[in-house]
Amino acid sequence: MKVNKVAVIAGDGIGPEVIREALLLLRHYTVDRGLPIELWELDLGAERYLRDGVTLPPEVRSAIERECAAVLLGALGDPRVPGLEHARDILFGLRFGLDLYANVRPVKALADRLVPLKNRGKDAIDFVVFRENTEGVYAGIGGQLRRGTSDEIAISEDINTRRGVERILRAAFEHARKTGRRRVHMADKSNAMPHAHGLWRRTFDELREQYPEIEARAVYIDALCLHLIQDPDQFEVIVTNNLFGDIVTDLGAALQGGLGMAASANLHAAAPDRVALFEPVHGSAPEIAGKNLANPFAAFLTVGLLLEHLGWPEEASRIERAVATALDAGQCTRDVGGSLGTDAAGDAVRRLLRGADGADG
Ligand code: NAD
Ligand code: IPM
Ligand code: MN
Repeated sequence: MKVNKVAVIAGDGIGPEVIREALLLLRHYTVDRGLPIELWELDLGAERYLRDGVTLPPEVRSAIERECAAVLLGALGDPRVPGLEHARDILFGLRFGLDLYANVRPVKALADRLVPLKNRGKDAIDFVVFRENTEGVYAGIGGQLRRGTSDEIAISEDINTRRGVERILRAAFEHARKTGRRRVHMADKSNAMPHAHGLWRRTFDELREQYPEIEARAVYIDALCLHLIQDPDQFEVIVTNNLFGDIVTDLGAALQGGLGMAASANLHAAAPDRVALFEPVHGSAPEIAGKNLANPFAAFLTVGLLLEHLGWPEEASRIERAVATALDAGQCTRDVGGSLGTDAAGDAVRRLLRGADGADG
């Protein structure tokens, strides 16, 4: 039987707290249910960087590429490294270095009370964002001139290639086709950025011809934000560039109950056998770190995406259902209306999963 090796980077702040819970959840699948997964825990993050200057060694990156089916990452970011150089090396080293061009972020509310909009319940919030993950302003091209003077010039270039734009748009259309979703929104700012985002519009108009069963709508990102609040029901798949995708998925997280509920997968969508990276959307939340306050559910739903990617979609659904049940019973952390600590909220979901497994298996 093929063993799936999963590299684990707990990271900084609340990262290790939510990953600890996620590993206990994964252990339920490997030990109790016999799923062939082998964990490889890596000592990378701010602690390691401050100790010996190591961020993401190239040989570790290539071992991940060669040997692993997936990477599970907590979060990176530590006030002791204000320049965030370790976080960029590791996070972008994996996203860019492994060419994981599709950052897939499902936005689904699991309880009515988590939806902050007036007169809307969980049924109104169910869409998925395809965020381009290897280009845009994140490409790191730019520089500073006359730094620190009143004549300073600072430039971050926005990189948009035909190939990069086409492959993320295709990933979004293909996902819609595969999952039976009927509508794809592409969000850009081509009215203000006709060069770069004109490319997105033209490519979108070409590709939509190949997906006649899907309603394809091009919208401006500012209007998209408005409609996400006023009329979220209409959205099924949203595809956009790296920066807009980053921003709009925090807005999406707010619609599903906060960053403690938002999961993500980073994929090379055209080659699903390649190693993929799974991480909650949230960061290291240093202000609540070490206090047993962090919500582990985003990390749990992320484990669900990982298991689905490895070929066990029913396990992903079970995790989602167990999280929803725990929320309904108030067995959750404070950010989502409960009073439990990180560990007890994690226990609650694992107990539900063990019960469900006992009941149906
Ligand atoms: P953040 O996501 O860490 O926190 C934003 C807000 O959400 C805070 O109020 C925080 O308390 C809350 N929050 C986040 N996750 C939560 C959880 N699981 N449970 C309960 N509440 C939660 O974003 P930030 O404050 O802008 O950034 C903090 C650090 O994290 C920065 O260094 C940033 O660069 C980094 N960051 C890293 C990643 C990543 O590694 N993928 C993602 C985002 C931010
Ligand atoms: C995210 C984060 C990262 C990003 C930061 C930490 C660079 O906000 O994963 O959403 O902007 O991609
Ligand atoms: Mn973000």
